Order: sequence, then structure tokens, then C-alpha cells
Amino acid sequence: MEYIVVRDPTAVARYAADMIEGEITSNGGILLGLAGGSTPRSTYEELAGRSIDWSDTTAWMTDGRWVPPDHDDANQKMVRESLVGPTDVSFLAPDTTIGSVRESADAFSERIVPLALSSSRSIVLLGIGADGHTASLFPGSPALAYDGVRYVDNYVERLGVWRLTATFDLLATAHVVVFLVTGSAKAPIVASIAAGADVPSAHVTARERVLWLLDEAAASGL
Ligand code: 6PG
Repeated sequence: MEYIVVRDPTAVARYAADMIEGEITSNGGILLGLAGGSTPRSTYEELAGRSIDWSDTTAWMTDGRWVPPDHDDANQKMVRESLVGPTDVSFLAPDTTIGSVRESADAFSERIVPLALSSSRSIVLLGIGADGHTASLFPGSPALAYDGVRYVDNYVERLGVWRLTATFDLLATAHVVVFLVTGSAKAPIVASIAAGADVPSAHVTARERVLWLLDEAAASGL
């Protein structure tokens, strides 16, 4: 487990933004997978505040909740507010207004999979839940067993909700995956994974490296 520990959430956001800005600058544009939840918002806001040429970059939502795109719980709403709106970066997210969750996942697969397989430089940002889930790959959920580079629907029994998520194989097309983890509430799961816990986040791979970017609170159990 490769990790970098920085002081606090602001330092995580700045470090992550530096990494992404550097990737864009040195590659002339990237495919950028974005995490949902609350942690990454500060990274997106940090990126939006910088003078970055986004014209050859495409961002995409690594998972979504089965809610309308403008719902307060929608990951894509948070991303549009914090990054896409201010920068006008090209952004792909599942259309949760069409038919069924399966139709939405299949339609999004058709858009993102060709890009993921052909991208010359792909970076994915992920978060982690206290139960070890990442994206919407939750412990015990059906999608953990889905192979293939694709986007799928996934019923999360514990929450009683449908989600949409990249499969492990789709996440693994990234050259680099960066987990953004802050706060003492995440310290136990971070320590568990470092000790070998079998949770979804521990099964994420990448073509080059998987980096855990932690603040001191989240790293306090290491
Ligand atoms: C989601 C995310 C999920 C998130 C973790 C951590 O839809 O909730 O995709 O995987 O990254 O739940 O969320 P926080 O950053 O809010 O702790």
C-alpha cells in the first residue's frame, strides 16, 4: 500500500490538484475519473481556482446514485458545482433520467468504455467509505463479482438503494488511481486495509500505481 501523508484536508486538496495539474500539463490533456461523496469537493474547488487548460481533458463520474442529476445526493451535481461549472471541462456522467438503472448504466458504458480503453493518460480519483467501499462497489454487493470493463447497476442491500458504478476492471484501466482520504473516521478502515483487510477498496488496481493520499487524521492508525 503506497501512501502519502499530508497535514490536513486542505493539504490533500492542494497535493491532489498539483498532481492533476501536472498530469494535464505534461500530457496535454487526460481522462480524469472523479470520485463522488464529500471528500473530493475541496480538490475540485482547488482545481477550479487554477489557470489550467482543460480543453483536451475529459472528466467522468466513477459512480452515481440512482437519483435525478440535480438531486442534492447526486455526485454529478457536486462535480458540476465545484469543477465543471467553473472550468467548463468536458464531463461525462450517467443519465439518470432515462428508463431503468440498467439502461442508464448500459448507455454510460457505451460512452466511457471506449475512452477508457483508448486513453493515452488516465487518472482516477476515488474515495473510501468506513466500510471499505469505493465508487459504488460496496461490500457484499453484486457488482464486486462483475468482470469486464464496464459501468453497471448495483443494488446496495445495506442502504436499500440502486447505484451505478465503474467495475473494478474499468477502474483498472487508469494509469494511476489516487484515493483521497481525510478525517479520523477513516483511520480504522485505512489501517485495516494496510493490515490486509479484504474490502472492495483493497481490490482496486491500476496500470502503474495506486496511491493513498491521506491527511494525518486518516493516517493515524498506520
Ligand atoms: C459515493 C462515493 C463513495 C464515496 C465514499 C466516501 O457515491 O458516496 O462515490 O464511494 O467516495 O462514500 O464518501 P465521503 O468522501 O463523503 O466520506
